[in-house]
Amino acid sequence: MPNVIVTDVEGQHSSISVREGEILMEVLNENDFEEIEGVCGGIRSCATCHVYVDKKWLDKLVDKHQEESELLSGLEAQQANSRLSCQIIMTSELDGLEVTVAPMED
Ligand code: FES
Repeated sequence: MPNVIVTDVEGQHSSISVREGEILMEVLNENDFEEIEGVCGGIRSCATCHVYVDKKWLDKLVDKHQEESELLSGLEAQQANSRLSCQIIMTSELDGLEVTVAPMED
């Protein structure tokens, strides 16, 4: 099972085992990262699943859909390594993926 290393908004690290095919947003939501609300259920319309992906992993993710880019560009906390966690599907290739939960938008 792949692992994902998550840093919360206070800088605490956790390692979480996930099943292949799981959606990262759902994993974070189920593991009580309260900033990850996933309000829209993963249809790229809420951005309440915002994470920062460690730069060494960015190339291993599928490219952003235009809607994802547009949503992220509207966030105050956007950074170059921002992604919507609802668009990240865990695979064995992503074993060890490192993400940081982004702060909630006001
Ligand atoms: S859960 Fe709404 S955009 Fe990701």
